[in-house]
Amino acid sequence: MPKIAFIEHDNTEHTVNALAGQSLMQAAIDNSVPRILADCGGYCNCATCHCYVDDRWAASIPPAKHPELDMLSGAIDANGNSRLGCQILLTNELEGLVVRLPVSQI
Ligand code: FES
Repeated sequence: MPKIAFIEHDNTEHTVNALAGQSLMQAAIDNSVPRILADCGGYCNCATCHCYVDDRWAASIPPAKHPELDMLSGAIDANGNSRLGCQILLTNELEGLVVRLPVSQI
C-alpha cells in the first residue's frame, strides 16, 4: 500500500494510501485528489491526468511510450517530467512517490 504525495501548484499536498496494481490516476480519483480529472477513464485519450513526476522518482518509473507520448505532446504546460497518471502502474516500490500537478489543470 504505497503512500503517494500529490502536490498542487500552490504546494497544497494530498498524501494518499494507494494500492499496488492500480494506476496513479485511479489512486488520485479514489482519494478525491483535485486537478486529476481523468475524463477518458484511463484510456490515454484526454491528458486530464497530467502530472509531473518528482526528479527523485523519474528513474523508478518505466518511461512513457506511444500513445502516452503523443498525448503529452499536446498537453498544456508539459515538460520533461510530464506523465499521464493513468499510464503509471503503482507498485510497493513506489512508496513515497511525489508527483506535482499542473496549474493549467483545473
Ligand atoms: S485519464 Fe485520460 S489520459 Fe489519463
